[in-house]
Amino acid sequence: MSTNTINIKPAKGKLGVLLVGLGAVSTTFVAGVEAIKKGIRKPIGSLTQMGHIRLGKRTDNRNPLVKDLVPLADLNDLVYGAWDIFPDNGYEAACKAGVIPMDLLDQIKDDLQNLRPMAAVYDKSYCRKLEATHYKKADNKMLLAESLIKDIENFKTKNKCDRMTMIWCASTEAFNTVSDSHKSLRSFEDGLKNNDPTISPSMIYAYAAFKSRIGYANGAPNLTGEIPALIELAHEMGVPSSGKDLKTGQTLMKTILGPGLAARYLAISGWFSTNILGNRDGEVLDAPENFKTKEESKLSVLESILRPSLYPDLYGNLYHKVRIEYYPPRGDNKEGWDNIDIVGWLGLPMQLKVNFLCRDSILAAPLVLDVVLFMDLAQRSGLKGLQEWLSFYYKSPMVKEGLTPIHNLFHQELKLMNTLRHLAGETQITFLGLDYYM
Ligand SMILES: NC(=O)c1ccc[n+]([C@@H]2O[C@H](COP(=O)([O-])OP(=O)(O)OC[C@H]3O[C@@H](n4cnc5c(N)ncnc54)[C@H](O)[C@@H]3O)[C@@H](O)[C@H]2O)c1
Repeated sequence: MSTNTINIKPAKGKLGVLLVGLGAVSTTFVAGVEAIKKGIRKPIGSLTQMGHIRLGKRTDNRNPLVKDLVPLADLNDLVYGAWDIFPDNGYEAACKAGVIPMDLLDQIKDDLQNLRPMAAVYDKSYCRKLEATHYKKADNKMLLAESLIKDIENFKTKNKCDRMTMIWCASTEAFNTVSDSHKSLRSFEDGLKNNDPTISPSMIYAYAAFKSRIGYANGAPNLTGEIPALIELAHEMGVPSSGKDLKTGQTLMKTILGPGLAARYLAISGWFSTNILGNRDGEVLDAPENFKTKEESKLSVLESILRPSLYPDLYGNLYHKVRIEYYPPRGDNKEGWDNIDIVGWLGLPMQLKVNFLCRDSILAAPLVLDVVLFMDLAQRSGLKGLQEWLSFYYKSPMVKEGLTPIHNLFHQELKLMNTLRHLAGETQITFLGLDYYM
């Protein structure tokens, strides 16, 4: 045992889960949790529900469930709120998303039907593919933020929540870069009052969350929690922030395969990734300005895994290309192809092909659950600002300025598990193991 004494507040009472966007990912998350609570499905894919964690030496045989090591909110204590730019309730939205089989959906119809989205904060210039019908109108962005803060307060009172956390599961916004208004909290607040066009809807939601002293996680790749103004606010309000872009499908595979090839010092000359998907997410990403946001997120992972500056002979000339094609017949059932050109001993070329027929939201939903529960844990543990230990869940982990993000899935897992051990006052596991032989 370590001597660490972190005081974690107990997870008692209701946890309000505020979902920005009530589309495929959000409805699949809610439907899954409700099906698990009714005992008709298992929480497959969720570390918080199924994961065990090794404690102490290998010979100690201490492998409790993660949820027995650290106090996590019970699934029965979750209550959901949502905002969307369309008024469809959770059941209607789930039917449109077409992810969940109808026979299962009908068993949880009431739970989803009761989830009615609040009017959203919307700006067409960040998502021009969708024609919103259900959004707030106000003279400036500060008034929009204040309206969200009011929504949060009302939700908390109505649902008697003890705690809350917010997660962005809305459409990917158009590409954006850090502007002068993003550089400090003061300039950001001036920007809100002056309707600065560089302040996106996602930033307004994050601002409202932090002002309400609740954490904010970003499930999509848009620029939000990493801008200096919002980092400053998260610290000031003592709340956690994490992101960004849930790591599912093709990028998950990339961060599993990449470290393996690199560990064997196999050179990679080209990695071409393409996929087809036909859900609303695919439709939004069909716009070049929204795809650019996603592309940056998907391209960033190989650099830190392969470290071409250290290994110019192996990865210095890697050609990495990522494509997404909107193809309506596939709906949420994405198909990804990867062609990896590798080079081995004597410089001889080889090829690796991956054809992943996945279900996008089925992979994303358990990550939403874990992120929500861990963000709540972070807040109860007094962790504030960027939560790098949650990198495991994201394609583009947000880190403190000057740090290189970790993309290797296995390093991310170790970091997450060691953070849980740290919070529980347990010793870190290094896998040194020399003492077994002494
Ligand atoms: N499915 C995955 O595997 C996966 C993985 C990583 C990231 N993501 C990201 O998660 C997000 C959600 O994916 P999805 O498949 O559920 O998409 P979706 O299109 O089914 O749902 C997004 C919802 O957000 C709503 N929306 C758009 N702008 C909004 C705003 N300003 N305020 C409130 N609601 C708004 C849309 O109306 C829609 O209902 C996307 O950004 C996607 O890129 C998904």
